[in-house]
Amino acid sequence: MRKSKALLFEISRPGRQGYSLPSCDVPEKPVDELLPKKMQRTETPELPELSEVEVVRHYTELSTRNFGVDTGFYPLGSCTMKYNPKVNEEAAVMPGFAFMHPCQPEETTQGALELLYNFEEGLKELSGMDRFTLQPAAGAHGELAGLMIIQAYHRSRGDYKRNKVLIPLSAHGTNPATVSMAGYEVIQVPCDDRGLVDLDALKEALDDTTAALMLTNPSTLGLFEEEIIPMAKAVHEAGGLLYYDGANLNAIMGYTRPGDMGFDVVHLNIHKTLSTPHGGGGPGGGPVGVKERLLPFLPVPLVSKKGNQYYLDYDLPESIGKMHSFYGNFGVAVKAYTYMRMMGAEGLKQASTDAVINANYLMSQLKKIYYVPYDRICKHEFIVSAKPEKKKGAGAGDIAKALLDRNFHPPTVYFPLIVDEALMIEPTDTESKETLDAFAAAMEQIAKDIDEDAEKVAHGPYKTVVGRLDEVRAARNPVMRWEKDQG
Ligand SMILES: Cc1ncc(COP(=O)(O)O)c(C=O)c1O
Repeated sequence: MRKSKALLFEISRPGRQGYSLPSCDVPEKPVDELLPKKMQRTETPELPELSEVEVVRHYTELSTRNFGVDTGFYPLGSCTMKYNPKVNEEAAVMPGFAFMHPCQPEETTQGALELLYNFEEGLKELSGMDRFTLQPAAGAHGELAGLMIIQAYHRSRGDYKRNKVLIPLSAHGTNPATVSMAGYEVIQVPCDDRGLVDLDALKEALDDTTAALMLTNPSTLGLFEEEIIPMAKAVHEAGGLLYYDGANLNAIMGYTRPGDMGFDVVHLNIHKTLSTPHGGGGPGGGPVGVKERLLPFLPVPLVSKKGNQYYLDYDLPESIGKMHSFYGNFGVAVKAYTYMRMMGAEGLKQASTDAVINANYLMSQLKKIYYVPYDRICKHEFIVSAKPEKKKGAGAGDIAKALLDRNFHPPTVYFPLIVDEALMIEPTDTESKETLDAFAAAMEQIAKDIDEDAEKVAHGPYKTVVGRLDEVRAARNPVMRWEKDQG
């Protein structure tokens, strides 16, 4: 049964109060002395008037409507959120970190600078790159920083002709978007029938206008690009650079490194790899690492060390500038560093092993029921196609809604675009076999439901707070604020 929730404005009653302020302990001044007349209100604002308990209940109830990785299985392929261990949060709220001000003198922030320095050292080891900026606030923001670095590099050599970036068809949507934003032209490279980048097509697309190849390995199909070494060689021979979208590094930690595969620039999605909260919408982290020859173009400041003193290093005359205030989202770096140190090198490798085993186990269960277009050993995620189910009357989006009714967050749907009716599933490393089995059982039940009554599945969900939304109208015509008397 659906519960409808009244807004605070609607349950407001005049005169009800939920606060008690201490009495003023400084001399009160007339408002005219504090604010110019033209900036003063002429009417009292219409704020809801409620008791404390009403407000607490309202927000507590709203919080139960959230679905998060702390409340259930969240196999959202590509944009997966790993489980965020609570010890990360404890480290980030330590008073020495939480109450520090970024404008404090360096001699009073040595501990924080040491953490950033050591975090960078860890990222270098994990990825095989030479230096990192921690400024970008998310994966996509890292992509932009990386492409600006690439642009600055080519321009510093007087090479202004390179205006194209090659991207495989299996790429994440942010890649072409960022390429356009950086002022480049996107050149798409097809995949072969194994789902891997078509090496011959890539070679054909390369010329002296190629600025870079932008690639994630493993790809968003969850497949490792086996021909990465010849690909890197071909791009470098054409004078281009290799950009690594490191969102999928959680599949290969401790096994291989983008720096060893030949990449020149990488961004890491630390919300996927190092268990911080998600980047895209919130204060996340998308550190960007480069090889030595691109170091001069990194954003400033870097955190460097002289003797045993850490300092903010602005000595990069060719820097692309700043991508974020100060050093990026410091709290997120504390969380990622805590995770890295807690896991250690062996632990990180084990996390990748578990991510890959979980994905392969779940794929082996689901392929008994659904069509798996790239039926080969996958890395951290895999794709199911609901094309046969669609023919029966309920497709990928409908399966996603049916999962909501069974208390599972749905996988990513309709992406990657090269698979019809795609469901992109990433179970992550921390899930138990029981959880994976329960998810597979739910998927099996949904397949049976489609066989019996596809029409019914196509109109779900039935148990969520709101039913099927008009997603197009919600996106095109969002109603973002409550208007009095709007009904
Ligand atoms: C392959 C890939 N690239 C880029 C991104 C964008 O990252 P973000 O959401 O942090 O901007 C994602 C999302 O997680 C991704 O999966």
